[in-house]
Amino acid sequence: MEAMRVEHLSYSYPGVDDTPGVSVFEDLSLTVEQGSFVAVLGGNGCGKSTLAKQFNAILLPCGGKVYVCGMDTADEEKLISIRRSVGMVFQNPDNQIVANVVEEDVAFGPENLGIASPAIRSRVDQALKQVGMYEYREHAPHLLSGGQKQRVAIAGVIAMAPKCIVFDEPTAMLDPQGRREVLQTIHTLNREKGITVVLITHHMEEAAQAQRVVVLHKGNIAADGTPAQVFSQVALLHEIGLAAPETVELCYALNEAGFALPLDRLDSEECGQALYDWVKA
Ligand SMILES: Nc1ncnc2c1ncn2[C@@H]1O[C@H](COP(=O)(O)OP(=O)(O)O)[C@@H](O)[C@H]1O
Ligand SMILES: [Mg+2]
Repeated sequence: MEAMRVEHLSYSYPGVDDTPGVSVFEDLSLTVEQGSFVAVLGGNGCGKSTLAKQFNAILLPCGGKVYVCGMDTADEEKLISIRRSVGMVFQNPDNQIVANVVEEDVAFGPENLGIASPAIRSRVDQALKQVGMYEYREHAPHLLSGGQKQRVAIAGVIAMAPKCIVFDEPTAMLDPQGRREVLQTIHTLNREKGITVVLITHHMEEAAQAQRVVVLHKGNIAADGTPAQVFSQVALLHEIGLAAPETVELCYALNEAGFALPLDRLDSEECGQALYDWVKA
């Protein structure tokens, strides 16, 4: 089953006054399987956020179709169902906080969906437990660390019980500790609750932990496959201004220097083993 299906999508932002619009996609097609964990990479301005906004009908196609859980995002009658099915988490946790108490913040989404109060209580508690923030439920969100705030934002999304969550660079403003917390939370949601995850990121190490990596470049798909398949295409990544994870970059540099090392050893242990074998041989 497909969680998302993008068919020949074209999209341009309208121009203001006499300025021409900005064309982002001309003919993009992509499907995301239900329950999968897909990382989306690409340079600044290549259309990642624009695609994310197509997934919950914040933006609608100019041409082509976007289906979410089988629903056409251009079908106005489906808008509420679409917003319930696909949650969004953005880069800046401060912009996503709407209340002065953590549990009220998390309750905001389900309240807007018109869910009855007793059900909201249990949803909020469960969501906060899921992200490891239950003991902070009565705290003020603005006093939390970046990673904690982002986990509260994620709890607010889970409380709406979505089937999919699109994360648009959720760790970009966090320190390494916060990044680890948030990434771990995202993986748990995918693994334990079967939530389909689309993770837009600039961190290659985060993408390396996904099941599938999609690389966008100028509105097109430049690479698509398992992390090993995508990251071993180092020359292509460099050409479009990206890099592979440091492990692969190291082996690539050695290859360039004339030493044959594999380019598909993403984690440091595998990479270390390859280097050890090479030194010993
Ligand atoms: N609201 C907007 N109005 C006009 N152009 C926009 C708007 N948002 C984004 N763009 C342009 O659309 C292109 C894709 O942007 P975006 O999807 O934000 O890229 P990314 O998230 O990959 O950095 C860029 O050229 C950007 O300048
Ligand atoms: Mg963006």
